[in-house]
Amino acid sequence: MSIAVYPGSFDPITCGHLDIIRRGSKLFDEVIVAVLNNSSKNPLFSAKERVELIKKSTTDIPNCRIVFFDGLLVDFVEQQGAQVVIKGLRAISDFEYEFQMALLNKQLNHNIETFFMVTNAKYSYISSSIVKEVANLGGDFSELLPKEIYKDVKQKIEKGR
Ligand code: PNS
Repeated sequence: MSIAVYPGSFDPITCGHLDIIRRGSKLFDEVIVAVLNNSSKNPLFSAKERVELIKKSTTDIPNCRIVFFDGLLVDFVEQQGAQVVIKGLRAISDFEYEFQMALLNKQLNHNIETFFMVTNAKYSYISSSIVKEVANLGGDFSELLPKEIYKDVKQKIEKGR
């Protein structure tokens, strides 16, 4: 059975993330979406909230599972019996960082492969940070994230104002 892990902060999940999950779920028997902490970021949504938002957005994808893990990515991948880490690439600027992470993860565990998927061009400009910035400034961000979570994100932003 081929199991892939798609890791990220997902603060919150965007249309670009969802597109990668959808396409990945057609290539692997199971895609585990791993909500992990990125030590260089201070998330707006709690881990529990981020997991719930992804669950709400993926109800129609039967072979994907959403899990929070607080530790090293490679440890999680091994624990789950997975062989592959999926990463989405939007631009060359993403590649530099992701290439470093892929080499690091390979050094930490030689059995795990990083599988790069190129973003759908129509989502290539979207990031969780951009969604939060537009939302914070009162702009229309409805096209940037899964429609199922628009209200939740709007509410959270309004609460924080
Ligand atoms: O969505 P992001 O913030 O770009 O995702 C980065 C993430 C969470 C995948 C990365 O920070 C990560 O793998 N964190 C887990 C801890 C770890 O394994 N760190 C070393 C390799 S980056």
